[in-house]
Amino acid sequence: MILELIDKLEKQHQLTREEWIRLIAGRDEESTAYLFEKARYWQHKYFGNQVYSRGLIEFTNYCKNDCYYCGIRRSNRKAERYRLTKEQILECCKTGYTLGFRTFVLQGGEDGWFTQEKLEDIVSSIKECYPDCALTLSIGERSFESYKRLFEAGADRYLLRHETAENNHYRKLHPPELSPENRKQCLRNLKEIGYQTGTGFMVGSPGQTPEQLAEDMMFIHELQPHMVGIGPFVPHHETPFAKEKGGTVELTLFMIGLLRLMQPKLLLPSTTALGTIDPLGREKGIRAGANVVMPNLSPTTVRKKYELYDNKICTGDEAAECRMCLNRRMEGIGYELVTDRGDYPDYNKNK
Ligand code: SAM
Ligand code: FES
Repeated sequence: MILELIDKLEKQHQLTREEWIRLIAGRDEESTAYLFEKARYWQHKYFGNQVYSRGLIEFTNYCKNDCYYCGIRRSNRKAERYRLTKEQILECCKTGYTLGFRTFVLQGGEDGWFTQEKLEDIVSSIKECYPDCALTLSIGERSFESYKRLFEAGADRYLLRHETAENNHYRKLHPPELSPENRKQCLRNLKEIGYQTGTGFMVGSPGQTPEQLAEDMMFIHELQPHMVGIGPFVPHHETPFAKEKGGTVELTLFMIGLLRLMQPKLLLPSTTALGTIDPLGREKGIRAGANVVMPNLSPTTVRKKYELYDNKICTGDEAAECRMCLNRRMEGIGYELVTDRGDYPDYNKNK
């Protein structure tokens, strides 16, 4: 029965809410192996054995938000705050470019110090220096106008995980001033403006059920994003969820496989959080259907300070070491880390 649902998903690229629930709740070893085999088939059809890499620059850990799960939430007084200067950000890009990165991801908390003007200036400077590179922003919820101006300044892609598509669950993970409606509207705006748009969710966030994961799949199907970043929830000791259980590798991998079958051309990262809870997590993610890795380009002096969750990996390594390490890891499982912008197949910015 479960195998039939996987067959149906592969043919139709969608299931009903009830079918998603049955599939997620009813998974076992046999169905997981069956799913991964199919996921690899689609991954190879569109991407061969190529894995794209994105150079992640964590440029500020100041944040005005107070998400209950996040280590850099504003109420964490113990977090040592930092901001990179424009020069430092450009220096990270320079290092990254030499190492073969052709996509940079600027990620940070929602930090008002970086005004619209400052952000536009950083975006256009990066694009001027590296016109052959794609630039991804991941700086949270903003107005339609702000997103539009950043797009016009040169940003190509935007990552904003919806975190959970089920509204009640969203409210359990966030303080009242953050709303699931606004988060989803931001994603629709980003798509409308023309960004290659990435959403995503945490797997195993406190109290999450198969019903809620089914909602995530329904929402993603409706949005038709270009990227979906998922990773296990990992507790952080200075947050209200310090004592909660983390998400599992097993369920995260299963969800990656389902996403590959639902949207075969998806850009799907094997995340650092997955590598944090399992030393071979990123390799397993690729073998479950993921096709992107996002090594860290931030200066090593600030790496530990961007601590979203406990025991985050790769906080001591230079960018070059990370690149080499991931090269080796991907080669070890028969994949190749490529120097490529890695756009969404068929994407046309002017469409
Ligand atoms: N401020 C931006 C935003 O809200 O999209 C980007 C930074 S935010 C820290 C990036 C992502 O980290 C979030 O979308 C969330 O899914 C993830 N994250 C935060 N805390 C986490 C935790 N404890 N475990 C796993 N992932 C976490
Ligand atoms: Fe950073 Fe392996 S990816 S050390």
